[in-house]
Amino acid sequence: MTGEVATGAERDPAADPGSYAKAILNILDDAAGERTRLAATQKAILNILDDSAEEKARLADTQRAVLNILEDFDAEKSKVEQINAEMAAEIAERKRIEEELLKAKAATDASNRELEAFSYSVSHDLRAPLRSIDGFSQALLEDYADRLDEPGRAHLARVRAATVRMGGLIDDLLQLSRITRAEMVRETVNLSVLAESVMGDLQRTEPARRVEITVQPGLQAEGDPDLLRIVLVNLLSNAWKFTGRQPAARIELGARGNGGERAFFVRDNGVGFDMAYAPKLFGAFQRLHAQGEFPGTGIGLATVQRIVNRHGGRVWAEAAVDQGSTFYFALQPGRST
Ligand SMILES: Nc1ncnc2c1ncn2[C@@H]1O[C@H](COP(=O)(O)OP(=O)(O)OP(=O)(O)O)[C@@H](O)[C@H]1O
Ligand SMILES: [Mg+2]
Repeated sequence: MTGEVATGAERDPAADPGSYAKAILNILDDAAGERTRLAATQKAILNILDDSAEEKARLADTQRAVLNILEDFDAEKSKVEQINAEMAAEIAERKRIEEELLKAKAATDASNRELEAFSYSVSHDLRAPLRSIDGFSQALLEDYADRLDEPGRAHLARVRAATVRMGGLIDDLLQLSRITRAEMVRETVNLSVLAESVMGDLQRTEPARRVEITVQPGLQAEGDPDLLRIVLVNLLSNAWKFTGRQPAARIELGARGNGGERAFFVRDNGVGFDMAYAPKLFGAFQRLHAQGEFPGTGIGLATVQRIVNRHGGRVWAEAAVDQGSTFYFALQPGRST
């Protein structure tokens, strides 16, 4: 274009006005082309800007989403941290309680041992003066019988009966304390065989009595055979004693429950008792029946409970007045004190 337009130095435009106009038209044409191109470029740029605005908006959305996720994550994290802290506090509290329980158990064990030693030595020491009372009252009866009148002899006879009874109490106390102190062995014991032999002994003490005895065969327990025999002797003799006035007495040894807690039971159809007193029965010297009615010391069930506890088990009763009693005991395998 510039090639065609002559500069004023070379040519006078007034001399050729046609070429001048043409040059101007060319220039205008060129300018229009430029403008169109420029507009297209602008449009392209605007498009690009539009696209980038969309991208920016999308990016902002994505950023917001990421921020939300991070916020949620932070909230979750603080929740987890809080739960962790609570759990740690709970574990610490449990540990503290466990330690306190262990301390309390150690203290109880120690005071139990002390008490046992005390009752053992007291019982032991009581025997000597008792023997002396018994011996001298016997001597009085034998050597001075002619100088005593009938009421005097009766008084002495009562002194002797009381010393015999007291001797029995002392023996029971000694047995109870021996049971707590004795070393325990643990083996498989056939309770059915033991029960048959105990029932045989009881029958021999009162051959005239007719009692229907049912012993479930093959009852196996894990425990100390001597101690478990004492459990059966006490429970079966109670059943024997408290069915004494029952014309058709029945005594049964059985087991119930499997898997979880297997409980053995001794059931009778004797006089029974009021369940309100059941928890007291297992304390030493606790009796519900009058001595004249059914004799006894009240040490049998306390002995049973100690033995069962030493096996890590428990003992309990179900009964009703005049409707018989059932005494249950469960031995926890693998645990003893
Ligand atoms: N099978 C039973 N039926 C009714 N009452 C029972 C039975 N077994 C126990 N009792 C009640 O529980 C009390 C305590 O029983 P425990 O065996 O400890 O003592 P006891 O039999 O009286 O005396 P001991 O066993 O020392 O000779 C009994 O006196 C009685 O009142
Ligand atoms: Mg008894």
